[in-house]
Amino acid sequence: MSNDDFPTDRPAVVTCGLPYANGDLHIGHLRGYIGADAFDRALETLGQETAYVCGSDMHGTPVAVNAEQEGVDPEAFALEWHRQYEETFPKFNVEFDNYGHTHDETNTELTQEIVRELDDQGYIYEKEIQVAYDPDADQYLPDRYVEGTCPYCGEKARGDECDEGCQRHLEPGEVEDPTSTITGNPAEYRERTHKFFEVSEFADFLTDFLDDLEGTSNARNQPRQWIEDGLQDWCITRDMDWGIDYPAADGEAESDLVLYVWVDAPVEYISSTKQYSERVGTDGYDWEQVWKDEGDVVHFIGRDIIQHHTIFWPAMLEGAGYNKPRGIAATGFITINGKGLSTSRNRAIWAKEYLEEGFHPDLLRYYLMTTGGLQQDVDFSWDAFQETVNGELVGTVGNFWYRSLLFAYRNYEGTPETDVSAEVHERIQDALADVRESVNDYSLRGVGQAAVQLAQFGNEYIQRHEPWKLTDDEPERARQVIRDCVQIAKAVGVLLEPIAPDKAQRLWAQLGEEGSVADARLEDALEAPPRTFDEPGELFEKIEDDRVAELNEKLDERVAAAAETESDDTDADETGDMTATDELEPLADERISFEDFQELDVRVGRIEAAEGIEGADDLARLEVDIGFETRQVVAGIKQLHDLEELPGEKCILLANMEPAELFGVESNGMILAAGEEADLLTTHGDAAVGEKVQ
Ligand code: 2FM
Ligand code: ZN
Repeated sequence: MSNDDFPTDRPAVVTCGLPYANGDLHIGHLRGYIGADAFDRALETLGQETAYVCGSDMHGTPVAVNAEQEGVDPEAFALEWHRQYEETFPKFNVEFDNYGHTHDETNTELTQEIVRELDDQGYIYEKEIQVAYDPDADQYLPDRYVEGTCPYCGEKARGDECDEGCQRHLEPGEVEDPTSTITGNPAEYRERTHKFFEVSEFADFLTDFLDDLEGTSNARNQPRQWIEDGLQDWCITRDMDWGIDYPAADGEAESDLVLYVWVDAPVEYISSTKQYSERVGTDGYDWEQVWKDEGDVVHFIGRDIIQHHTIFWPAMLEGAGYNKPRGIAATGFITINGKGLSTSRNRAIWAKEYLEEGFHPDLLRYYLMTTGGLQQDVDFSWDAFQETVNGELVGTVGNFWYRSLLFAYRNYEGTPETDVSAEVHERIQDALADVRESVNDYSLRGVGQAAVQLAQFGNEYIQRHEPWKLTDDEPERARQVIRDCVQIAKAVGVLLEPIAPDKAQRLWAQLGEEGSVADARLEDALEAPPRTFDEPGELFEKIEDDRVAELNEKLDERVAAAAETESDDTDADETGDMTATDELEPLADERISFEDFQELDVRVGRIEAAEGIEGADDLARLEVDIGFETRQVVAGIKQLHDLEELPGEKCILLANMEPAELFGVESNGMILAAGEEADLLTTHGDAAVGEKVQ
């Protein structure tokens, strides 16, 4: 069953993974919150009724451990970070309709109500399990209080997540060779009774849910594999004081357990929506309609928390009688100068630092939204940032806005009085269609590109018609060209608003428009701007080379300073701490001759068919057309690509690879891919299928 396109006649809610209230925000966080904000704004531009909600994630060991390190009470610690986040987000034009936190009354009550409902429905049971314990500290060691080895991939892991390896959620007792993070001593395992949620009961529901799920393909593919491997029930309680108490059933004694942070955190999505509804009144926005009746729920998350959002959370929603999410966009990580973002190594761009450097938030918004697709890792460097800003924002958009409006102001005191030409009307309509399609494809990059390409068209248009040569001899033609340009300028503003809201608003004001461009709908891009406006100013400023050199130097210096005091590993400890591994395989020392290289018969191919191989976790069977024949190839990409989307894609195939048999399937060649995500190599020009790569 596929969903109706946005805009729908139902209310939507857009959420973003809650930040743990435990430290400074950085560019990795911002990518997610800006992404969801831009998506929410874009939905509104399409005319969708929507709310954007979030909140701080106050509980769990991520907060308790950090508070303890600072010797403060976790509640006061988390509230202080919460306050700082509330202050910081608007500075990046991230405007939540509601920003709550998981420790408030609404969320405490709703979480307990949902857990009670799951219990009443028979989905919760008790079980004795082995829990890590530190005899010296005399305390149980939930989650981040214990470290060890991941039983699935052998990497170093925390008690509840394989953060440096396969990214799986780990259940209490699963981590091997446990060590206490409090004393560094080996931990013991002791028996304790805990509560479990019967996730395994939801396998069929989750399979259907994933079939309908929109968003990024990684959010559908990885969980399919987990379901195929067999779902485990989920331990939802912890031996801790900090958290929401496990709700006692009528007549039952109070439990000394708190709920696992991953139970109450996503409930905040609902609680925050509820608070918004309570503020504006249910006539303005009805939280129950969206969560329980008919509504569209869209989650933006980091790709490290796909399992929580595509398995545990929808099962909780279904079990407690709530709607399932319509879309999940799981964003890639951020790298800095090609290396993994690392807070402990101070290799990060901090939110505060960016603002203190005096950069406008919309520049970063634009860079983060358009540099890669949502699913891709995005590299940030000050050089690349400068190139994007100077090229696309200053050179294309700013230049077009300024020259059009200035010409219009000087010659006509505003918008010339004539209709827009058919050519320009049609070109704007095409851009509007691109935006509609991009939003429905969850492509913010597509939204940004539609706007910038329209500005590019505007620049070409003005250049082609040279109105400055027409004003004297052909005034009517000059008037037409400038009328067209002013309309294009306005349309670019409307289209760019989700990504660069403040710059778009300034343009709006320069055009003499009233109110807020955020309230404009796509169709308004075709409405004539006011007849007169004032002299415009330039909206974007070039970033100079010496500024970039200075910023690079500062970054290098602080990474070096951190390296002297710390030798910690790359980490991924907050939502949006979208860290990529920075361990590149060393370059080979030994050189090969050109003749050796020529022995490789590498060809351009086109994938004709792709399907998973039964029984093999990672393998897919592909049929690849290489001009002369179609080859059957086995590739380890089952979990990393949406196989349904591959047919039709060009790829590069090593054709004279020895045939091999894998899981009973013959592989007759090897498709080439880069990195751990198996990014498939392809060609970017029109090299024909079968052509040799040389
Ligand atoms: O991984 C994290 O950083 C969590 N704080 C995300 C919570 S998202 C949700 F479920 F609320
Ligand atoms: Zn692992």
